Amino acid sequence: MTVVAVLSMKGGVGKSTVALGLASAGWDRDIRTLVIDLDPQANATMALDVGEPEFTTSDVLADARPGVAADAVVTSGWGDRVAVIAAERSLEHRNVPRGRHSALRLRTALATLPRSYDLVVIDCPPSLGELTRNALSTADRAVVVTEPNHFALHGAAEALEAVSVIANATNSRLRASAVVVNRFRPDDREHRLNLERLADAHGRLVYDPPLPDCPGIPQSQRAVSPIHSWNSPGSRDVADIMDDLLDSLLPPKRPEASMPRVSIKRYLT
Ligand SMILES: Nc1ncnc2c1ncn2[C@@H]1O[C@H](COP(=O)(O)OP(=O)(O)O)[C@@H](O)[C@H]1O
Ligand SMILES: [Mg+2]
Repeated sequence: MTVVAVLSMKGGVGKSTVALGLASAGWDRDIRTLVIDLDPQANATMALDVGEPEFTTSDVLADARPGVAADAVVTSGWGDRVAVIAAERSLEHRNVPRGRHSALRLRTALATLPRSYDLVVIDCPPSLGELTRNALSTADRAVVVTEPNHFALHGAAEALEAVSVIANATNSRLRASAVVVNRFRPDDREHRLNLERLADAHGRLVYDPPLPDCPGIPQSQRAVSPIHSWNSPGSRDVADIMDDLLDSLLPPKRPEASMPRVSIKRYLT
């Protein structure tokens, strides 16, 4: 079980795209996947076509009794393999601290639910407010998304700082795993320069390769389709990048041959 939070300070940089891309990689390899939408704009919810669920992340955070999130899980339009806890507009009201342990409400409400899944992806709103703090207090892995422009450099650094604050304060399991650079155009000098600056500042955290511009991304989202089943120029490359990103987030698979090898050794010595 791995819980991944996808975050950035800015809107429109590709958080939901990366969250949906990871869910699509989970869908494609048939692992049990749950998407939790913590953005009041509910773009991931729309792209996963969940209709009008009875409960949303807004209800889950308002209630926050241990395990209550299980009541809000619905099946996505992608099929049984991907479940969703949807967002709604009124979630906006939960982006400010509320009472003691305010940032732990999602973690409490989920309780043991994440153990029913191999992959849980949390899509964050474009801020480092209380909703994102709830996501980071719940996650094992943080993926920061940025575009390769000048201002995004500061945004990525601040998002990583927020990750380390939560990791030190309330969630020692949390690790920053990747800074994904989205909509990178290799022929744009400014993009190349900013990619270099990001790599200088954050080293191997900067995910290689960056995500290219790909018209199939918005098309597949509008069509409620995982990018892995979308056939248009470039969409296979995006799906491959999402597969590799997911591999880098999930625990390494135990080599199947390792157990017999150990026991053979024991008999020989
Ligand atoms: N690499 C890309 N190529 C083409 N369009 C993209 C790409 N990444 C994101 N988009 C589109 O840009 C818009 C904003 O992306 P989104 O993932 O919703 O950003 P955020 O969640 O950070 O607000 C969406 O319409 C999305 O489909
Ligand atoms: Mg979004």
